Amino acid sequence: MAGPKHFLDLDRLESETLRGIIDVGRAFKAGTPPGGEPQPLAGKALALIFEKPSTRTRVSFEVGIRQLGGDAVVLEPSGTQLGRGETVADTARVLSRYVDAIVIRTVKEAHLLELAEHATVPVINGLTDRTHPCQLMGDVMTFEEHRGTIAGRTIAWCGDGNNMAASWIQAAVRFGFELRLACPEPLSPPQDVLDWAAREGGRIMVTSDMAEALSDADCVVTDVWVSMQDDDKQPEHRHNLLRSYQIDDSAMALAKPEAIFMHCLPAHRGEEVAASVIDGPQSVVWDEAENRLHAQKGILLWCMT
Ligand code: CP
Ligand code: NVA
Repeated sequence: MAGPKHFLDLDRLESETLRGIIDVGRAFKAGTPPGGEPQPLAGKALALIFEKPSTRTRVSFEVGIRQLGGDAVVLEPSGTQLGRGETVADTARVLSRYVDAIVIRTVKEAHLLELAEHATVPVINGLTDRTHPCQLMGDVMTFEEHRGTIAGRTIAWCGDGNNMAASWIQAAVRFGFELRLACPEPLSPPQDVLDWAAREGGRIMVTSDMAEALSDADCVVTDVWVSMQDDDKQPEHRHNLLRSYQIDDSAMALAKPEAIFMHCLPAHRGEEVAASVIDGPQSVVWDEAENRLHAQKGILLWCMT
């Protein structure tokens, strides 16, 4: 018997599956749900485990499952037996008897994998220290709403080679676009993710030169300099390394004149992005945040039916 349909990472899923999920998200957004059924998950329950803070992921999944007719239970380890040492594996076995899918945001990818191994219901990656695939589904949807199909286009990532950068690399392979990452050498994206992309024939360039990455780009993306898992890892050192990678008006001017600016949020104006860019006419960050809701309705429907 096939196991549950986990949504763990973009490299584990076929391009057609990911494309189908985005199409369903778009259909929900347009008010034309698949099969004309706005609440296909009526009677289903979703558990959400947050080992780290969240605004967008939490609210978009809670609202999304309710819009689909289901219900949500949010768990924070401090308020559950997970926080007192009950194993992730046992939590997976128990939650699987109550709910129909589990979203988890973890401090360690190992927790996601342990949950998926022992759950008998689908597990969805709501961000780990390594990747953030749900965000990329909303991001690809947003790019395509504004600029048409992403295949064959050029996206420039500037800044930390973090969990978002890793998911952008996986997305570049799955959706067929070119990704150029400008990162300071000590903060390059994980080598195993780059190696996977190279084996898959992905068009990925890593450079420390912003101009090389930004030249002729259709979209400019950045993220915070200090991710949640890096809070206690010499933030000043990271700021020094990343200071020259800020996306300001002069950086945007290196991309195509019609380039859009994206950021998964939360943002720090004056650090990774200038206020004039994130609050300016090329920014699509609020659509990007909204599309988390629509794209994740596609993910929930795929996992839970
Ligand atoms: N972009 C994103 O995942 O935001 P949250 O941390 O608020 O969930
Ligand atoms: N890289 C950021 C993304 C937040 C959505 C972090 O992990 O904190």
